[in-house]
Amino acid sequence: MTQRREFLKFLAASPLLTNYSAFAQEVEETLGQRLTDPSEVINVFEMEAIARERIPPAHLGYLSTGVDSDLTLRANRAGFSRFQIKPRRLVDVTKIDTSVNVLGSVANSPIFLCPVGSQGAYHADAELGTARAAAAKGHHMVLSTTSSTAVEQVVEARGAAIWHQLYSTNRWEYTVALLHRAQAAGCTSVCLTIDLPGGRNTETSAVLARKDTRNCDSCHAGQSKPMFDGLDMRGVEHTDAAMTWAVIARMKEVTDMNVVIKGIEAAEDAALAVRSGADAIWVSNHGGRATETGRGTIECLPEIVSAINGRIPVIVDGGFRRGTDIYKALAMGASAVGIGRPYCFGLGAFGQAGVERVLDLLNRELLITMRGSGTPTIASIVPDYVQDIGYRGLVPG
Ligand SMILES: Cc1cc2nc3c(=O)[nH]c(=O)nc-3n(C[C@H](O)[C@H](O)[C@H](O)COP(=O)(O)O)c2cc1C
Repeated sequence: MTQRREFLKFLAASPLLTNYSAFAQEVEETLGQRLTDPSEVINVFEMEAIARERIPPAHLGYLSTGVDSDLTLRANRAGFSRFQIKPRRLVDVTKIDTSVNVLGSVANSPIFLCPVGSQGAYHADAELGTARAAAAKGHHMVLSTTSSTAVEQVVEARGAAIWHQLYSTNRWEYTVALLHRAQAAGCTSVCLTIDLPGGRNTETSAVLARKDTRNCDSCHAGQSKPMFDGLDMRGVEHTDAAMTWAVIARMKEVTDMNVVIKGIEAAEDAALAVRSGADAIWVSNHGGRATETGRGTIECLPEIVSAINGRIPVIVDGGFRRGTDIYKALAMGASAVGIGRPYCFGLGAFGQAGVERVLDLLNRELLITMRGSGTPTIASIVPDYVQDIGYRGLVPG
């Protein structure tokens, strides 16, 4: 116990864990031990504090890490401070409708669950807990190629179509096999992740792995992911460094799923994605885990929305922790907003019930912001409701 306390102190004081709020640091030592009911958790930062108590150090490191100095990870949060909300008053906001429809996927909320690999590392409920929580609250979900649970089981647990995230691999026949399997399982869109063409430097993860005293060899040795079942992955990369825009047309030849391009950060690429036949684009820097750009995704969004000019849906993720963050992205033209770590904090803290709580918290915050700003529907949240002050201010959370 003393050792654990010492470790938590190290975590709280660590400059490495920079996405972690001062508020959460304050409450960390007492909360994890005291709170047993997810309904007592008041926001995502508090959920993070509890998860930090319950997830083993190496797995927590993998979940928390950015790349290099975690600059982009922090930029994802700091970026929101550039944009302020301009509320309007005396609008009838008795009824609030947060429902959305993106590429035919209807959801109760614009907040969707991003693909996060290996969810068994956070809780035994893993992706089934996430899918059941998404089903209970009517949220849209995207499943990772590197999930701990097979896509067929996850679709069944969600009870509705999900989207599949694709790491293409550097063998085309494997890419085709993955696409066919996802489509046969009932996925309606495939999201090709393009921001990891080869290698990344996840130092926070490496540091926390060193702090883990467990013997992890037996868990990781020879481990394969269910999506790769039947594929001999020896010597095969998860991503393809040779991939170019031509991949979209190639994918469309072998699948009927919509093709969504995940990992766009520049207007030029947004334009190329449309020209190459993408059905939607996903503004993302992999949660600050790909290239250390120093740019928050919310800061990338305006130029991309402008380049797309309404032709296809634009979705976004990266650092969303508050209803106001989500509201800003919607005002700037996003059709939906993804969360990654927040629901995994919920999963790590309480399993499925924790994921449900995170969704409730963020939905409530979004609803309050919509009421407070005089925008009763998602469609009514337009650019007039947000203003770019041109510099970053106080970092929220
Ligand atoms: C632990 C972890 C694993 C991830 N695994 C994947 C993955 O397998 N495929 C993928 O496209 N993105 C993956 N991502 C990125 C997320 O889909 C998403 O872009 C990111 O988490 C959003 O930022 P946020 O965590 O600040 O909400 C992962 C993110 C985390 C934190």
